[in-house]
Amino acid sequence: MRQKTPVCYDEQRETWDVFRYEDVNHVLKNHDAFTANRTLEDNESSNGGSDEMPMLQTMITTDPPEHNRLRGFIDEQFQPGAIREYQPQVEKVTAELLDDLENKQQFDFVDEFAVPVPVIVIAELLGIPADRREQFKEWSDALVARPEDDTEEEIQRVQRGQQQAQQEMGRYFAKLLEERRGGDGDDLVTLAANAEDLSRGEKVGFCILLLLAGNITTTNLLTNTIWSFEEEGIINDVRTGAIDHEQAIEEVLRYRSPIQSLKRIATENVELNGQQIQTGDVLTLWLGAVNRDPEIFDDPEKFRPERGPNRHIAFGTGVHFCLGAHLARMEADVAIEQLLERFDRLDADLSDLQPLSSLYGLESLPCEVS
Ligand code: HEM
Repeated sequence: MRQKTPVCYDEQRETWDVFRYEDVNHVLKNHDAFTANRTLEDNESSNGGSDEMPMLQTMITTDPPEHNRLRGFIDEQFQPGAIREYQPQVEKVTAELLDDLENKQQFDFVDEFAVPVPVIVIAELLGIPADRREQFKEWSDALVARPEDDTEEEIQRVQRGQQQAQQEMGRYFAKLLEERRGGDGDDLVTLAANAEDLSRGEKVGFCILLLLAGNITTTNLLTNTIWSFEEEGIINDVRTGAIDHEQAIEEVLRYRSPIQSLKRIATENVELNGQQIQTGDVLTLWLGAVNRDPEIFDDPEKFRPERGPNRHIAFGTGVHFCLGAHLARMEADVAIEQLLERFDRLDADLSDLQPLSSLYGLESLPCEVS
């Protein structure tokens, strides 16, 4: 596909599929010609949202200059310096989860480690009280739930669950933001509450976006890391430091990118790699494919943990480059390092892999440890 038809139209899905690294890079960096505003595609009016339906007004679907306003107030908190300060909190969260696993010989890596790590970390950064964590996790799960089959009934069930979770979270965050306004805490809810040029709905939308964008993706990065390390037989080499774990995690991001595709919509008639794209056309940018583009990566189908420098775009690029990239990397580095330090032996069972239907990850990953 990448070589023969690098940009091709799929009549059924009504989208251009874009497979080459250079083309995807070009689209993502050219936000004037390719908007991230999905409301244009869905033909919904951008109503400014409400606390209940705040997703229309977050940075991820907004173009500059509005995008700068929605992201600028918090960008600093996600830069490497600020993220380093969160590291002790992440170490503590990880250590506590590992304490719970220490006496077990077997556990499900996804449910018992990869899911809770990012949920608890983001709950802490937002300053969610500990007694709301369970509720918080249920909301996060409902937000990213996908239909188990494609019957109308199942699709509606999942959509209802998402709407309900979004409404409940909307109300919860609206109240919390109100309570923290004027406060001097350094949690993300207080910072959003004190942001001057954001509406109430935009602040709520920001809080929910962090969960939507950060939880399942980081879960999948952790899962895909242990999956890949086991498959390659390198768990012990990573544990001893013979293989650098940070570099190896970068290779996981390339090789098993948690987000496989992004969407953009053309705002003008434009040519892309010889194809005429019309205003309003939808483009699907295949990150998974571009991260294996042989024009960019030597031996791209091979997992090479020592690969470097690694030019993958698993976190996107351009103005929407992942806000949480440094946080996700730090979480993964801490979690994987501590996990391997804690157990002398870790064997992941790859005999019955159940891939997730939407993002790139697994439903479960049974592990044996000692
Ligand atoms: C944006 C991937 C973790 C928050 C993005 C984008 C990608 C991505 C590809 C670009 C979306 C686009 O261009 O349309 C990932 C992956 C992660 C991860 C692979 C984990 C391995 C996180 C975390 C957070 C986060 C932990 C926050 C807690 C965001 C936000 C945006 C974003 C807010 C929107 C940025 C903007 O529009 O300016 N992420 N992400 N992500 N991500 Fe992440």
